[in-house]
Amino acid sequence: MVRSGIAACALLLAVSNGAKAETPAERGNYLVNTIMACGNCHTPRDGEGKLIADRALSGGLSFTTPAFDATAPNITPDAETGIGSWSDAEIRRALVEGMRPDHGHLSGAALAAIMPANFYKALLPDDLDAVIAYLRTVKAVRNQVPDPVYKVPVRRDPYPDAEAGFNKSMFADPVRRGAYLVTIGHCMECHSAWSRGVSDFKTGLGHGGRVFPLREGSPDGTANSTAANITSHPTAGIGAWTDAEIVRAVTQGIARDGRALKPPMAYGYYAALKGSDLADIVAYLRTVPPLQ
Ligand code: HEC
Ligand code: HEC
Repeated sequence: MVRSGIAACALLLAVSNGAKAETPAERGNYLVNTIMACGNCHTPRDGEGKLIADRALSGGLSFTTPAFDATAPNITPDAETGIGSWSDAEIRRALVEGMRPDHGHLSGAALAAIMPANFYKALLPDDLDAVIAYLRTVKAVRNQVPDPVYKVPVRRDPYPDAEAGFNKSMFADPVRRGAYLVTIGHCMECHSAWSRGVSDFKTGLGHGGRVFPLREGSPDGTANSTAANITSHPTAGIGAWTDAEIVRAVTQGIARDGRALKPPMAYGYYAALKGSDLADIVAYLRTVPPLQ
């Protein structure tokens, strides 16, 4: 009796393991550390520009722009210098509305537009909860970043797909599922036409040309990188690339001609994307209207 009970249990376990659903924290780990690449901004780097893994998400890049000076804050669960004392609702609001909690340090202030809340507002409720569940599991690190300075009121450029929103029933279509991933990955924030601090998502979607100043002393010793045209244009864009070439660029940072892509293209994070997610991202990119 006892024996067969154990055997039955073991069988049940085996069956449930096989079909085991991801927990919210596992899903959040996947989103944060692949497509959403939060650490690309929020994780500190060593002198050679390499991410410091054991201080993940404890505060990272500083941005100096005409509109603001801001440093990506500590988003580990440290109660004093991180977001450990924030409620789930407060973290949710920071992510999708770009607003800080109405208490404590910098109470009620809007986050600088560099924090991609205009893209994250597209997150499906389950994915938003998953990101928060994962952030709760990250190692708490004590690190206070400098306060931001806002020079003009915060303005976020609305991203059409995020404004329209997504729901799971759309994901039967790989193109819409890819559009969702490209939205929450804020790919088009870097890759769209950009001038004087304003993104043109309507007529310049995927056009490229935005210039990113690289840190002084960056490994390849150059001062800037320029986001590429990733529209379906056959010569100016990636329309003539094979699927495999696009996947290689996104996950390994190797351009079609073999050149190594520079930061801030986050291929180190995208390297761990699932094949099905990559396939859908490519399917969507194929539909981005050609621009020269
Ligand atoms: C492009 C860079 C960038 C990316 C990517 C990014 N953030 Fe941020 N984030 C920032 C900056 C910069 C600030 C601070 C803005 C300010 O001080 O006004 C910020 C602020 C925040 C805050 C508010 C923290 C505080 O103490 O005020 C939270 C929470 C946050 N980010 C979470 C995330 C999460 C989670 C992700 C990934 C899903 C993410 N961010 C991706 C740049 C980024
Ligand atoms: C933080 C800004 C940023 C984000 C986010 C970003 N990219 Fe990039 N990407 C770049 C830059 C800059 C380059 C060019 C680097 C270079 O030429 O050395 C680039 C290059 C590329 C290339 C190579 C194109 C070519 O012609 O060489 C592809 C493809 C690409 N990105 C796709 C994506 C996709 C898909 C996403 C979202 C999953 C994404 N990028 C997110 C900045 C970004």
